[in-house]
Amino acid sequence: MCGIVGYTGRRQAAPILLDSLSRLEYRGYDSAGLAVRNGTALAEVVKATGKLYHLADKTDQGRALAGCCGIGHTRWATHGDPSVVNAHPHVSGNCSGSGSGAVESDVVGVHNGIIENYTELKDKLLRHGYAFYSDTDTEVAVKLVDYYYKKYKIGPVDAITRTMVRIRGSYALALMFKDYPDEIFAARKDSPMIIGTGEEESFLASDVPAILKYTRQVYYIGNLQVARVSPGKVAFFDLNGDENTIPLTEITWDAAAAEKGGYEHFMLKEIHEQPAAVRDTLNSIVKDGKIDLSGTGLTEETVRSVSKIDIVACGSAWHVGMAAQYVIEDLAGIPVRVELASEYRYRKIPMAEKTLVIVISQSGETADSLAALRVAKERGAETLAIVNVIGSTIAREADHVLYTLAGPEIAVATTKAYSAQLIATDVLAVYLALARGTVAEEEAAALLAELAEIPAKIERILEEKARLQWFSSKIANTHDIFFIGRGLDYAISLEGSLKMKEISYIHSEAYAAGELKHGTISLIENNTLVIGVLTQKELYEKTVSNMMECRSRGGYLMGITTNGNFSVEDSVNFTVYIPKSDEHFMASLAVVPLQLLAYYTSVNRGLDVDKPRNLAKSVTVE
Ligand code: F6R
Repeated sequence: MCGIVGYTGRRQAAPILLDSLSRLEYRGYDSAGLAVRNGTALAEVVKATGKLYHLADKTDQGRALAGCCGIGHTRWATHGDPSVVNAHPHVSGNCSGSGSGAVESDVVGVHNGIIENYTELKDKLLRHGYAFYSDTDTEVAVKLVDYYYKKYKIGPVDAITRTMVRIRGSYALALMFKDYPDEIFAARKDSPMIIGTGEEESFLASDVPAILKYTRQVYYIGNLQVARVSPGKVAFFDLNGDENTIPLTEITWDAAAAEKGGYEHFMLKEIHEQPAAVRDTLNSIVKDGKIDLSGTGLTEETVRSVSKIDIVACGSAWHVGMAAQYVIEDLAGIPVRVELASEYRYRKIPMAEKTLVIVISQSGETADSLAALRVAKERGAETLAIVNVIGSTIAREADHVLYTLAGPEIAVATTKAYSAQLIATDVLAVYLALARGTVAEEEAAALLAELAEIPAKIERILEEKARLQWFSSKIANTHDIFFIGRGLDYAISLEGSLKMKEISYIHSEAYAAGELKHGTISLIENNTLVIGVLTQKELYEKTVSNMMECRSRGGYLMGITTNGNFSVEDSVNFTVYIPKSDEHFMASLAVVPLQLLAYYTSVNRGLDVDKPRNLAKSVTVE
């Protein structure tokens, strides 16, 4: 996820672009860049790493760049480290250096999204004499447009549509062509982009808040469409190059609401972004039905010889480890130990030979997780980081990195990063199992097919959110909640409980269902809410029995189970049904109603959902 902006009109473009980018920084902030045209002069490209103010300083708040037509970008790295070279805009010219300055180039572009087949396209372009200065998929896209533009001597719109049919993945592209001094060309597939118009000026952005200060008249460019943007005018084209009409929409939201894409809170927005986060992560490591972890640098040799896995993390990332433990042990037969990073770093755990230590972290900066990683390396373990933020310290220091593609997460309570981590560990489990021969090719293919359906199943759960909203209003004044389950359902309960307590401030605990009667059951009294997670067939009846033990002591029961399992309805007060999947992957589905329940409970209690008290998004202290 990155942010893109564009401006063409009578005013100086750079200050407007910087201002618009400042409203998109939540989409990524590891580097930023601008390209501005001054009439027929070459595009001037300036880029800087880090937050946007570095770029603003470098360009004297935009005053150092003259020109009335330009594009800008704030980056959330996906391909290539956060660096000036990899920062956007990218240029088509075979320039040396980072593609910045006054660049002799026919096409200059910025991009949001992921181009999945960029290596294949890069090879093609290399064969045609193109050279590359960056590691990005964006440079490939810009050069591919340039290639078609010159090969067929066609206009920008046709060059872009030819490129669109060749690239796989999701993207929003904004491009300037040397021969079209005051125009911007844009295209999108599955990535957001809007175009705004005003008096003799036009704007382009990933999201409405970026341009709300300048105009409220916007076009939502359609999927697989191209736009030709000139001052005060826009034309749209389909993939055949035929002109389309799009209605102009007047934005009536206020700026703060718009930043959240119309959702009331970032957490709700991020809950809804889970299908995309899971799909993108999956597509980055499963290609054409085959697992491809080549990007992590893990060798077949390592994978086959691992005798033990330690998973180390904090909070929700630790809960992902708890779920992964069941899946990896069951599919690949490798013993897995899951440790809290804050404990692991001080323990003298004997390191078995061929131990793989997996550190899971959204931010890649959590102090305890980083310290645990360093301890593991000192003890001679091979390390793999599963991290969301590209170029973060944990990602840099681990031997191998598997990036989740959840995009920036703003709400303190994690949702989409958790789901992306889960899917990454599921794929890893299948990979380990295949490499060690504990599952056959056909079984692995069936498991991957199940994983591919998870995003659509999450979407179906999200469609049912109104029931959870209603139920949360009933429980908003509860004092204690117990989440119980066995096996993988216990791991899901841990996450459900943490989500609930951190944003609703209601005391809650997660228990392995069979363990309740060893002490905790004494806390169950009239109307204590007990939520049973019931996704594992073999353990289902056992957990239901534990729920009945709670009901006999006054407990008020909610159950989460799979579609078609109606027997639970007779036993509990409120049931949530979720779609079926392979049982190993049920955490990805069962967690969603628990996130929604926590979210709506917090809203019903009138709390600050996105910034709960006493918490920080990234815990960089011990
Ligand atoms: C809970 C939550 C935290 C994080 C934990 C680890 O909703 O977000 O428990 O999971 O602080 O953070 P990362 O994943 O950044 O290492």
